[in-house]
Amino acid sequence: MKYLNYITAFLLFIITSCEHKNIAETPNRQGIIADKAMVVSAHPLASKVGLEVLKNGGNAVDAAVAVHFALAVVYPVAGNIGGGGFLVYRTNEGEYHTLDYREKAPAMAKRNMYLDSDGKVIDEKSRLGHYAAGVPGSVHGMVTAHQKFGSKNWGELLEPAINLARNGFKLTENGASNLNRAQERIEKYSTVKPENLLHNYWNARDSIQYKDLAETLTRIAKNGKAGFYEGETARLIVEEMKRGKGLISFDDLKGYESIWREPIQFSYKDYKITSMGPPSSGGVAIAQLFGMIEHFTIQDWGIDHINTIHVIAESEKRVFADRAEYLGDPDFVQIPIDKLMERKYNQLRASEINFEHASMADEIKAGNFGKEHEETTHFSIVDQYGNAVSSTTTLNGGFGNHVVVGGAGFFLNNEMDDFSALPGSPNMYGLIGGEANSIAPAKRMLSSMTPTIVEKNGQLFMVVGTPGGSTIITSVFQTILNVVEFNMNLQAAVDYPRFHHQWRPNYIQYEKGRFEDNMIEILNELGHELRERTAIGRVDAILVLKDGKMEGGADPRGDDTALGF
Ligand code: DON
Repeated sequence: MKYLNYITAFLLFIITSCEHKNIAETPNRQGIIADKAMVVSAHPLASKVGLEVLKNGGNAVDAAVAVHFALAVVYPVAGNIGGGGFLVYRTNEGEYHTLDYREKAPAMAKRNMYLDSDGKVIDEKSRLGHYAAGVPGSVHGMVTAHQKFGSKNWGELLEPAINLARNGFKLTENGASNLNRAQERIEKYSTVKPENLLHNYWNARDSIQYKDLAETLTRIAKNGKAGFYEGETARLIVEEMKRGKGLISFDDLKGYESIWREPIQFSYKDYKITSMGPPSSGGVAIAQLFGMIEHFTIQDWGIDHINTIHVIAESEKRVFADRAEYLGDPDFVQIPIDKLMERKYNQLRASEINFEHASMADEIKAGNFGKEHEETTHFSIVDQYGNAVSSTTTLNGGFGNHVVVGGAGFFLNNEMDDFSALPGSPNMYGLIGGEANSIAPAKRMLSSMTPTIVEKNGQLFMVVGTPGGSTIITSVFQTILNVVEFNMNLQAAVDYPRFHHQWRPNYIQYEKGRFEDNMIEILNELGHELRERTAIGRVDAILVLKDGKMEGGADPRGDDTALGF
């Protein structure tokens, strides 16, 4: 019976994945409007937790901490304490701070750890099970952000998450099907079977509890970083590693540090855009995309014009070719950020775009200027004082490596797959990389996460980000374009079907409804191959309107929810 249910769940997943609605059919929708403060996250209960913190006078960082831990409970497919992420913060005075709490390779990691004796990549070794996990950064990141900018008591901010874990909450339909889909793997890869998740066919509105996770969160609430990186939680992680032949040690945990990085900042027309720097490729990549697109009159052409689509796809190819060559952990490799973001360089790259024909992937190389089902989650928050947080966090794949830490109740990431295991060999997002993103002990794997904040005339304008692996970069880029070039309400900009090109594989991926049939024909004639796919990203964003009120843009592709007051 149990297996019949799994099969039904799998079939339902296939059917619902194929049947996603034509989002283009909902024109210029407006999201909820708030006067003072707003939180947009992937789950209604997490947004509610954030809203309460904001209403009680907490600031955006307080709310970010509470939302982050709530997501670790109610949205375990991506919300986490066993993963990592990035946070972009803008104070109400216009100062920026960007925090890197990305996972690190364990000290015992080796460059060729995912290759067999013939030098070939061993399928799934970097994706499933203990060996795929990087040293988690999330708890360190939240404590660090809170110590510098939080105003409310740390322990109190974790209370809602602890209560949700301990007392249980009702699953959404997506939450239930996520768990049903992952059960076999969770059972296979967890050395201590998490009874609260297994042996049950989950339906929407079923109640689920995470008692071990409640205890782990309580230790973090009491002891901060030490509640995770030392003591009982560290012991449980290291024991789990020993049972499953993973690499994370006590020293890896104790030595983990999140790092304040230099923000990536650039201007595009009247807008100043701030995003995350390496080890995320997101900020540099969108800087390059805007730097190429600004040489074309896409506003006059319009969002569905062939030239607009062609120019966007061709720019995206070039940016991903650069990403593969140059981007990696800045503590390990020299990244020519200034060169990559230089106006002249991107103008030159843009001038290579041929309007007669799409370029073949082989024709595109990284620019030469002299060398010197997947899940993540994003939330956007603006508080009543005018501070803003844009934060993206992940386990990498849905439920990470599918290992629940025995006795501690949380999933570990499979972020090691974001390294380039072998030059030219694609990772789970089809991304390739080389030396700059090769594996080394204690190195951070390259990310595409792009938490971003946009200013207009010196004022906060937009807070935006999304999950989606490699498509994160192009979804953030296209959502901003939808608002600033194509005049859409924020909700419509988020709803609008997206497309994506990442150089290799050499085709445009697109959501149903993005292109009319005749447009597909024209793009084919130009030399573009196109492949329709399931939903791209879950953009959660906030837009400050002319009257100072805010519009929330919660992605209808998931359970994403905007709440404000
Ligand atoms: O850091 C990255 O780029 C990836 N680990 C993000 C994974 C992701 O977005 C999966 N979500 N759909």
